[in-house]
Amino acid sequence: MEIKITKAPELKTKPDPSTLGFGKIFTDHMFIMDYSKEEGWHDARIVPFGPFPIHPASTVLHYGSEIFEGLKAYRTADGSVQLFRPLENIRRMNNSAERLCLPEIPEELALEVLTKFVNFEKDWTPSADGTSLYIRPFMFGNDETLGVHAVHNATFMIITSPVGSYYKEGINPVKIMIEADDVRAVRGGTGYAKCGGNYAASNRAGQKAEEKGYSQVLWLDGVERKYIEEVGAMNVMFKINGEIVTPMLSGSILPGITRKSCIEVLKSEGYKVSERLLSIDELEEAMDNGTLEEAWGCGTAAVVSPIGELAYKDKKFTVNGGKIGEVTQHLYDTLTGIQWGKIEDKFGWTLKLD
Ligand code: PLP
Ligand code: COI
Repeated sequence: MEIKITKAPELKTKPDPSTLGFGKIFTDHMFIMDYSKEEGWHDARIVPFGPFPIHPASTVLHYGSEIFEGLKAYRTADGSVQLFRPLENIRRMNNSAERLCLPEIPEELALEVLTKFVNFEKDWTPSADGTSLYIRPFMFGNDETLGVHAVHNATFMIITSPVGSYYKEGINPVKIMIEADDVRAVRGGTGYAKCGGNYAASNRAGQKAEEKGYSQVLWLDGVERKYIEEVGAMNVMFKINGEIVTPMLSGSILPGITRKSCIEVLKSEGYKVSERLLSIDELEEAMDNGTLEEAWGCGTAAVVSPIGELAYKDKKFTVNGGKIGEVTQHLYDTLTGIQWGKIEDKFGWTLKLD
């Protein structure tokens, strides 16, 4: 598809890598493409980054028809820029679109506009250790009417942001509070979709945890509040008595691409990895009898984030003496090694931009 380009009249100064943080600075341009039932996807364009007008009755503002994705572009030692498993994000976005009754984007078209836009902004990919260009594709329902129905008009956009580490702790272990009241998602709901509403609904528990000095919450299932689901906005994994355990994809859990990659790396190396139900009782027992060896969250933003402390009701447990564990460190080194092109990509996960 032809992309119409309107260049920003002035380019911004690139930030000092030490000031990056996560998602605070945006590049010079953004990508937009519209959808209507009659025309399908049309009017693909790259325009200067900035606010844009939206009709006050737009579906997204009232009924939350919004989905998003998150992936990164990495600068390798030879100066080139590469993406990590972008087709996985595109497929997940289309699954989210199906759940929210938003229009899907054919895979080839989505990959074409994504790679062309990131290529256009690729000078913004920082090269300092641990930094990358975070890519945020998103789509919203844009019907200009207050009727509640499946969406007929939608807008797809991509914005990009040079980032450092997601948590201020970096790769240092974080403290996590197990949430016994609020739930993130339920089976049959939208947990497996990456839609904005899931994050809005999780903010209350996150805020409560932060006030108590924790970085994030560990979510339990929405029906029995018994089974472990995710940690904050990441998937979660444990090493219990030598076995790597991660909650199975039940419908209320987001199928993370980092999760999938961790499983594939570990299985290729002969580790026993179980995707299964893991109850809070089993986890508590493992903490009590010392068989919980490691715990970590995994997601694009933080890659792998070790959990050093878990709090449940009035109990606190330290995991692996509050230090990063061997498997956690190994996964971090392997995934970041592949992403930044420091080690061989034997899985064929990276896609170099022109
Ligand atoms: N779970 C939730 C709720 C998320 O928002 C994310 C982040 O995208 C993940 C898990 C991890 O997914 P991925 O590894 O694809 O980034
Ligand atoms: C992740 O990439 O792990 C995320 O959860 C992204 C977050 C900012 C929604």
